[in-house]
Amino acid sequence: MERQIYVIGSMSMDLVVATSIVPGKGETVLGDSFFTTPGGKGANQAVAAARLGQDVHMIGRIGNDTFGKDIFQNLKNNQINVEHVKPTEGPSGTAHITLADNDNSIIVVPSANNEVTPDYVQEALASTQPGDIVLLQQEIPAETVEIAVKYCYEHDVISILNPAPYREISDDVLEQVTYLTPNETESENMFEGDVDGALERYPDKLIVTLGELGAVYHNGLEQVEIKGFKREVKDTTGAGDTFNGALAVGLQKGYDLAEAVTFANLAASYSVTGMGAQGGMPTFEDLEADLEF
Ligand code: RIB
Repeated sequence: MERQIYVIGSMSMDLVVATSIVPGKGETVLGDSFFTTPGGKGANQAVAAARLGQDVHMIGRIGNDTFGKDIFQNLKNNQINVEHVKPTEGPSGTAHITLADNDNSIIVVPSANNEVTPDYVQEALASTQPGDIVLLQQEIPAETVEIAVKYCYEHDVISILNPAPYREISDDVLEQVTYLTPNETESENMFEGDVDGALERYPDKLIVTLGELGAVYHNGLEQVEIKGFKREVKDTTGAGDTFNGALAVGLQKGYDLAEAVTFANLAASYSVTGMGAQGGMPTFEDLEADLEF
């Protein structure tokens, strides 16, 4: 059977406000527009990978509310396997997003995502095979990320951890994870400013994403800079998730690391051209013309 991609992570409804004025403390301003759209870093990674044509399994929790129903339907619309997506009592996760100055700021309320516990993910992990890929992010409990990374390490399953939003990561996770994909800010926090040193310490594992400038990792001999692709920005929300979903697809297709990171950069560049986290995510056909491998 083809290697499978599993995403263990968050699903949320994004509540998005576009504004030209960002309020200061205690201030009220008038915004420009509002929309709701499915998001959550986990679900976004799953949709990114599925849209590129791969079989994807989502493992997570939704609330027993209308948002939960919409999130679930959106996964199905994107042909994602939802066997391990179960409702829990209470609300679904929400993300409160402000779009201003071509960038976003986000407050996430995890709600049902806090129920993605170590026990909850055991059954799904047990169904993985050596060579499968498990994608993780940090809008679910830290102990779940820890046991998932450990399981993958012990069972020859490839793990990709996107450490967003930032929180401290245990030494065990750092040692056992296959790929770690922080952005610049997250890597500065994680390695107390010594990102170059960390790249060298974690060759072919630590991949620091640099937005439209691309990404960098160390191959054991030297730093490797992978070019980015610049496109007109409508909404940057979900670009990092697209990078991670596409990285999994590139690895699953058997690309080497440099090719897989290039592919991920290319996919991420498309994602900013549509509104909403998932609005600009490309299909494989969208990317084919720009692929030189
Ligand atoms: O990475 C973008 C995502 O972060 C949004 O979809 C939002 O849900 C937040 O989790």
